[in-house]
Amino acid sequence: MSQASQRLTIFSGIQPSGMLTLGHIAGALRNWVALQYDYRCFFCIVDLHALTVRQVPANLRRWTLDCAAMYLAAGIDPAQATIFVQSHVPAHAELAWVLSTFTGFGEASRMTQFKEKSEQHAHNVNVGLFAYPILMAADILLYQTNLVPVGEDQKQHLELTRDLAQRFNNAYSPTFTIPEPYIPKYGARLMSLQDPRKKMSKSDPNHNATIFLADDNDAIRRKIQRAVTDSGTTIEYDPDNRPGISNLIEIYHLATGDPIEQIVEHYRTASYATFKAAVADALVAYLEPVRTRFFQIRDDEAFLADLLVRGAREAAQVANRTLQKVYRKVGLWSPKD
Ligand code: TYM
Repeated sequence: MSQASQRLTIFSGIQPSGMLTLGHIAGALRNWVALQYDYRCFFCIVDLHALTVRQVPANLRRWTLDCAAMYLAAGIDPAQATIFVQSHVPAHAELAWVLSTFTGFGEASRMTQFKEKSEQHAHNVNVGLFAYPILMAADILLYQTNLVPVGEDQKQHLELTRDLAQRFNNAYSPTFTIPEPYIPKYGARLMSLQDPRKKMSKSDPNHNATIFLADDNDAIRRKIQRAVTDSGTTIEYDPDNRPGISNLIEIYHLATGDPIEQIVEHYRTASYATFKAAVADALVAYLEPVRTRFFQIRDDEAFLADLLVRGAREAAQVANRTLQKVYRKVGLWSPKD
């Protein structure tokens, strides 16, 4: 057996529904980069998921390449990991159909993200939005995934994925690996800079709430300086009671790698203005090289296209093997029977 095939498998993905944010780095990309040499990795651009919200077609196409370029700019090594677009591997939609016949209506109705998104997009509560976590389960299970590095908001979807895998395995015979979530201790839920009780999101209508990875240095400084904090006077890490300042401490930690305790110790008595200036400096230093690499890579569309075509080919080989097993077990006839 080759070295590569002995490694455990990671799968994760991001929706190409806008410019990626600091939240994506904090909850996902940073850990993908850290784990990529120890696992066989599949990093997907989940464009079918993005369709659950109405998209401007030209934007969706543009953001798909942006997303690929950002994976690389953030440090994913294309020689190590398979990077591909979900819609290029039809097995994802096909397995999602089979898994949907194993998912209870009530079970899917309990997903908190479905409830939240139905409120946000009340004019377009489509069946795709409802079935979204089933497609996510298919993404993960096709690759016999062991570990799924995600932010905190995906935890419930991972639980559903595990339940579906177990249910299928029990109904037939062991078919799917049961995946584990990998959720970081800090940065798993980076908060809005304007309302620190809400998650930082690329779709927030208030652009000051979100650090986008293509923001220039001035925009980064301005957003951090305007971040909503509380009326306290000390720099303390207490996400429940001091969410604004705690969020800035997590951002500082993300940008510098310094332990939270050390940051708090160092800045405890500093003014909010001083601390915000330090966070802004650290974040600018952290994001500037990522942004520079992003624009360089994004410029070369032929390179990106080649990468994604190759990625889809590699991914399809693994995915089709699982899908064929599933089709056979549930009794779909094939000419080989
Ligand atoms: P998406 O596209 O909303 O976000 C992609 C990843 O980024 C994390 N994330 C955050 N982490 C911390 N703080 C934030 N403010 C923040 N915002 C986003 C998310 O937790 C996620 O890990 N359903 C998924 C995409 C998906 C997927 C998959 C993920 C589809 N199939 C299979 C893993 C495995 C989603 O909508 O993520």
